[in-house]
Amino acid sequence: MAARTALRRALPSLRAITHSEQPVRSTRLISTTVPSLAASPSSSSSSSAHPSIPDYAIPDPSRPTHFGFETVTEGEKRERVAGVFTSVAESYDRMNDLMSFGWHRVWKDHFVASLNPGFSPLTTELDPREPQHILDIAGGTGDIAFRLLHTAHVVNANPSVRVTISDINRAMLTVGQQRSTSLPASQQAALSFVEANAEDLTLTRPLHPYPSAREPTSHDAHGREEQAFFDPATATGGIPSNSVDLYTVAFGIRNFSNIPAALREAHRVLKPGGVFACLEFSKADAHPLFNAVYKEWSFRAIPLIGQLVAADRDSYQYLVESIERFPSQTEFRDMIVDAGFVVAGDGYENLTGGVAAIHKGMKPR
Ligand SMILES: C[S@@+](CC[C@H](N)C(=O)[O-])C[C@H]1O[C@@H](n2cnc3c(N)ncnc32)[C@H](O)[C@@H]1O
Repeated sequence: MAARTALRRALPSLRAITHSEQPVRSTRLISTTVPSLAASPSSSSSSSAHPSIPDYAIPDPSRPTHFGFETVTEGEKRERVAGVFTSVAESYDRMNDLMSFGWHRVWKDHFVASLNPGFSPLTTELDPREPQHILDIAGGTGDIAFRLLHTAHVVNANPSVRVTISDINRAMLTVGQQRSTSLPASQQAALSFVEANAEDLTLTRPLHPYPSAREPTSHDAHGREEQAFFDPATATGGIPSNSVDLYTVAFGIRNFSNIPAALREAHRVLKPGGVFACLEFSKADAHPLFNAVYKEWSFRAIPLIGQLVAADRDSYQYLVESIERFPSQTEFRDMIVDAGFVVAGDGYENLTGGVAAIHKGMKPR
């Protein structure tokens, strides 16, 4: 019985990580008990108090970084990225279809299918489905979260899976919240929205008001409405360490001002055995002719479509430049390993010749 329980606990992570009998890449581990970030990022630019955290993984608003092809400070990038996504929020979903010829849907479907949320192979009537808390970071208008919920609740018949959509931008979250009202009520009840910077998840702000279909089930000692499920983000004002089973981030991480800090936070909030999964644009340079056509399309057509459809050329110019600046598959894989994750095989899977890639890592047990 004990062996069966141990196997059942191990299976979701192994399934998500191990697509083949490939060796696990060695990892430079950092402490799994990362100190609270509440005061450190803004009040300290040195990691001397936390020897296991390298300086570059502590957000510093004055440190240089990139905004597209421009060099700016981390603080300035955060503000300008906020401006981009506030500007594109209403047109974001339509533009995604136009810019990618609908391919983003295929990639997102494949990403979620590869994670197979809510699947419990050893479930029986006497052995209920395992609860799972998924954190969809930079979740924007909800494309990934809605797919995760559908797969867990409908395909895998596991209603114990809940998803928190987190994003730094209220405008994107608000569009996501409006879209979520068309989901079945049970899925809406398993969904929550929080505003947070992925680089510091100790500070979160729930998005209010909740969708009307998300009925509260009880009241707390002060007569305040409690939500239908326990949500670590809304319950504590931050995402606690070791509280998340699966962390997803799709087309978000290249916009972060400090990617190592976000990876370190992902590692902190994940439970041991929890999985980090990222879908992001990547490098298609293994296929030079295809790559040349793709670059031509990106740099010429996308800003023009942005101008014609969304009256916003600059934001879409930034989006293509940010794709170009993002690290290669192997560089990003190494950053994931540096943050303390173990990866299986190459650690990534190319999609459409490398135009996008899925990276996964597991927090060691
Ligand atoms: C291209 S959208 C992706 C949305 C969604 N994941 C999808 O695949 O459709 C990128 C999102 O990243 C968010 N973002 C940018 N910087 C962030 C940060 N530091 N922390 C959290 N979210 C951030 C933006 O607000 C935006 O909603």
